[in-house]
Amino acid sequence: MVMNEDDSIVSREVQGKNEEQTEFSLRPQNLKEYLGQTRVKKEMSVYIEAAKKRDEALDHVLLYGPPGLGKTTLAFVIANELGVNLKSTSGPAIEKAGDLVALLTDLDPGDILFIDEIHRLPKPIEEVLYSAMEDFYVDIVIGEGQTTHAVHVPLPPFTLVGATTLAGQLSAPLRDRFGIVEHLQYYDVDELQKIIQRSSEVFNIKIGDQAAHELARRSRGTPRVANRLLRRVRDFAQVKGEKVISYETTRDSLKQLQVDDEGLDQTDRKILRVIIESYHGGPVGVRTIAANTGEDVETIESLYEPYLLQHGFLLMTPRGRMVTEKAYLQLGLPVPNE
Ligand SMILES: Nc1ncnc2c1ncn2[C@@H]1O[C@H](COP(=O)(O)OP(=O)(O)O)[C@@H](O)[C@H]1O
Ligand SMILES: [Mg+2]
Repeated sequence: MVMNEDDSIVSREVQGKNEEQTEFSLRPQNLKEYLGQTRVKKEMSVYIEAAKKRDEALDHVLLYGPPGLGKTTLAFVIANELGVNLKSTSGPAIEKAGDLVALLTDLDPGDILFIDEIHRLPKPIEEVLYSAMEDFYVDIVIGEGQTTHAVHVPLPPFTLVGATTLAGQLSAPLRDRFGIVEHLQYYDVDELQKIIQRSSEVFNIKIGDQAAHELARRSRGTPRVANRLLRRVRDFAQVKGEKVISYETTRDSLKQLQVDDEGLDQTDRKILRVIIESYHGGPVGVRTIAANTGEDVETIESLYEPYLLQHGFLLMTPRGRMVTEKAYLQLGLPVPNE
């Protein structure tokens, strides 16, 4: 298996149709199967039960956190737990106010409208959402010129579930209209190990505990990455004719995939290397990093930086991003004296 240079193991750009289907089959259906995120689950189960008891639509929910942590999965889990339908769309997919109104008027009372990447919703459409979320109606303008008139369209009580990787880019008026705001966190190694074990059952493959633990440790705290690595490692094991994926094969394949002992992949390392080699370790702005690595700003801010920050490879300063001593050591580069 040869990886081309831009084939990053953590980037969502690599996600093809095939993986989409696999992800679908791996998705937990209810809160019990949804592993980790204990605090979020505890809170959500209270809100869900209360809404059911009152026989009302659940308050609007905003889910935010880095890609691959289970936002989309959780939206579907919430719908299942409520016993309602979920209609799914995304911010960039809604081009005209009419598209949004069509989705909204099609809902049954209590249903969920899921808007992924809600921070990318065009502004005029966001404004249509305000009255829909607050009072369950929209005012739309029909016709042109002389025949223009406003129409008041009542909507069924519904729940908007929005997901975003960049909560900071959401406007205040929109953010304020979500009664429930949940921040998904990176998973710990034990949780990821359970997710890997569960996925291997779905795939009908066997993986040793030590191997699963090693995979979990190197999955960047992210279930999507864990599942992706598991699939790749499975291929290596299959070629070797292993019945149970071994620790050795896991280590060897991670090395081939260029995932290091801290779970960093080649794009992570490229980012750190650019800051070190071209900017003396920083500070440097995110746009400069993007231009130098060929990644877009949003991918760096939502996917790569949060992990590098959390694990102490990167620091945010008012003047830009700076690498830490740990970054030099991880790349095997000499730490400068100053
Ligand atoms: N809490 C969880 N428990 C088990 N698997 C999970 C969990 N969260 C996510 N996953 C797995 O990770 C994959 C990516 O999750 P997804 O909901 O698409 O992430 P996001 O929408 O945040 O990018 C899903 O296919 C699912 O199999
Ligand atoms: Mg998603």
